[in-house]
This record gives sequence, C-alpha cells and structure tokens, in this order.
Amino acid sequence: MKLNIQAALQFLAEDAIEKMQPAVANAMQQLEEATCPGNDFLGWLHLPSSTPDSLVQDIKATAAVLREQCDAIVVAGIGGSYLGARAVIEALDDNFSWLKESKNPRILFAGNNISEDYLSELIDYLSGRRFGVINISKSGTTTETAITFRLLKRLCEEQRGKDVAKDVIVAITDAQKGAARTTADKEGYKTFVIPDNVGGRFSVLTPVGLLPIACAGFDIEALLQGAREMEEATASDVPYNENPAALYAATRNALYASGKKIELLANYQPKLHFMNEWWKQLYGESEGKDLKGIFPASVDLTTDLHSMGQWIQEGERTIFETVISVENPARKLTVPADDENLDGLNFLAGKRIDEVNKMAELGTRLAHVDGGVPNLLVSIEKLDEYNLGQLIYFFEKACGISGLLLAVNPFNQPGVEAYKRNMFALLGKPGYEAESEAIKERIK
Ligand code: PA5
Repeated sequence: MKLNIQAALQFLAEDAIEKMQPAVANAMQQLEEATCPGNDFLGWLHLPSSTPDSLVQDIKATAAVLREQCDAIVVAGIGGSYLGARAVIEALDDNFSWLKESKNPRILFAGNNISEDYLSELIDYLSGRRFGVINISKSGTTTETAITFRLLKRLCEEQRGKDVAKDVIVAITDAQKGAARTTADKEGYKTFVIPDNVGGRFSVLTPVGLLPIACAGFDIEALLQGAREMEEATASDVPYNENPAALYAATRNALYASGKKIELLANYQPKLHFMNEWWKQLYGESEGKDLKGIFPASVDLTTDLHSMGQWIQEGERTIFETVISVENPARKLTVPADDENLDGLNFLAGKRIDEVNKMAELGTRLAHVDGGVPNLLVSIEKLDEYNLGQLIYFFEKACGISGLLLAVNPFNQPGVEAYKRNMFALLGKPGYEAESEAIKERIK
C-alpha cells in the first residue's frame, strides 16, 4: 500500500505538514503508552502481531464446520459488528457470485436494519435451505441484531432441529455480559469473544471479521499478515515522512483546519463499495463528536461521476478527496475492434478495460484538483487478502492518530445512544417509563 499526498499539498501552506509533526508524534506516543482519552479501547493497536495462531486455527476449524453444513450463512450484526466483514468479503468476491454456482456457502448480511420486508424476504429465501447463523454483537443487546437473531434461531431450529442448529449457530460476543452470551451459553453454541478493549468499528481483525471472512472461503492468515506488515510500517519509530498513517492523519487534519470539512473516499472498483461504508463508520463514529469532525462521505466511480460528479467539480469548496486505487485487476479484458465502428470506439480497440478506467481515474483526479478539491491517493497492488489487511490497518491506525489530533476521544460513541433512548421510550421498553412520558408530551 502506498500513500501519495502530493495533490493535496498545493492547497496547504508550504510547512503545514511539517508543522504537524510534533502533534502527530505526541498522538502516536499517547496511543503506544495508552495515555490518550479512550485508552481502555486500544486493543486493536497490536492485534495483527498479537493474534495467537491457536485463535486463527479455531476460527478456521469453525468456518470449516459451517461451510460443510450450510449452503447459506447469515451474518447478523450491525455497524462495527458487520461492516468490516462485508467490506472484505465483497472486495474479494466475484461481482456476480450471487448469480453463479459456487462451492462456497452464500454469505448473507442481516441484523443491520429493522425492515419488515427485508426480514420477511430473507426468511422466504432461507426457508427450506440448509443455513447457519453467526450472531455478532459486542453488547449482546443491540435491537436490530437481536430481533433478527430471534427470528433466525427459531427458523433454523424448526428446519434443522435443535441439535443441528446448535452446531450451525455461532455467537461472537462479550465474554460474560449480554443476552447473546446468555443465549449462547444456555444453548451450547460455539462462541468467540470480542475483546473488552476492542470497539466495534476496530474489530474487523478479531473473530468479528475473521470468522465470516473464513466462512466465505478467504485466507484470514494472509489478511492478518498484510495487517501485521502495516502495523510495522506505521509504528511510532518509523520516520514521520515515511509513515503513511502519520502523513494521512496529518494531511486530513491540515485540510480540515483550512476549511475542508468533508472527505470523500472514492474508489474505481464496485467491489470496494463496502470498504467505503466501513471507512465511513470508522471515521464518522471516531471523529464526529464535541461539535467537530470531518464528515466522511463516499462515492463509487466512475458510476457516481454521473450523479455526484457535478457537485464534486463545482459545488461548495469544502471537500477533499481520498482515492483508493487498485493497481492491477485480477482479470484481463480488452476493447474489441469493430469493422463498422458505429460507436466510434475504435480508438480504444485493443486497450485493456483497466487502462480506460485508470485514465478516467487520472483525468478525474486532475479535474478535481483543478476544481479546487485536494486529492490524496491510496494505492494497493491488487484486491487480495494481504493488500486488504494492509489497507484496513492503515486506516485504523491513521484514524486513532487523527482523532487525537482533533482532540476528541476517538474510541467512544456516546451519540449513538440518543436514538436508542427515544426508540425504547416509544416502544415502551421496561426501564424507560420516565422517558416514555416525556416523549409522549413532545410528540402530542
Ligand atoms: O463501532 C461500534 O462500537 C458500533 O458501531 C457497534 O459495532 C454497533 O453499534 C453494534 O454494537 P454491538 O456489537 O454491541 O451489537
């Protein structure tokens, strides 16, 4: 993975990045010495280098059982309990896997919404199929996931009997607390623990991400290897100018201070759509607090050049863009020559489709810079487990540094509770009687 900040520097004072070096060094030291706000949630920092092989083997063995016994596996989880797994699986999977025959079980995602239609249609699909469930919730009490799990547990037991259901339902949750833990212990499910000191959005390299990714047939050891190498490449003893996490955190904060309040993460591969979603949660929940924080937005290009392109080029100049570029496609396809050339495309004949995509990427970056949008480039060699492991750890490390530069606690998410309190009060959840009365007054 390489970071190039050249096309952002022209928007900043000449010494802007250099000036941030002491603050970045201080943030990295605070992370390393666990003296920063949220220091009880730093378990992610050395996960790649400290994950024991026994845990990796246990995850692989559990995945093998699920793969053997299931044609579909539903990953029930929301936010940090599903986005990382989905980002990696979709980045590695065939774009059309859902339409093709495969030796792999189909991985489905649920528990991330409360749509009656979504759940009903999921149940329709699962009815009569050999399916299993990975129930992921650190708190073990998240409503979206809990409702979904209640429905899926019942269906699985009805279809496969309690004995088989016990083997194809796995829980990933807290070691002791929460309803997911209570149910798993009572029913005898296989469980994995989400470490206390790893928050949801930093948990993709724990069983939360690793088990679904292994179930989909991908190599979690290579993923961890990539992350491990990025852990080394972003360590606090790596010189500032060579440390991609330090430079990314510094550049985005310098841009923010100069009035660029929105960061657009852009990709040129549809498979990276959920990487954008994962990144938005990581940065949005980590930095959007105390009335501060870059707003993380995203686009899939070139698709969205035909919807958001106008705004990016000529709208309010409060944005900067970070492009994830994949250097090499996995497949080879060229534009065919055509004798009639009715579409006028013969100037492209014989060119790789990826060359056209790369020229679109380069042309767009230049146009955006010309239009006043600073540009950062994150390049990875190809879409494989190793490169994705690097990318994930890079963004995590930079996020920790960046949040501390912004002087917020990057590891909490107090604002997420606000909607839950209102929803529970409106639904009459026991314990919310006082809020219930107050809210009824407000909506009269
Ligand atoms: O990053 C976070 O902490 C959140 O997005 C959580 O992952 C999300 O709210 C789900 O919580 P839980 O895993 O407790 O169900």
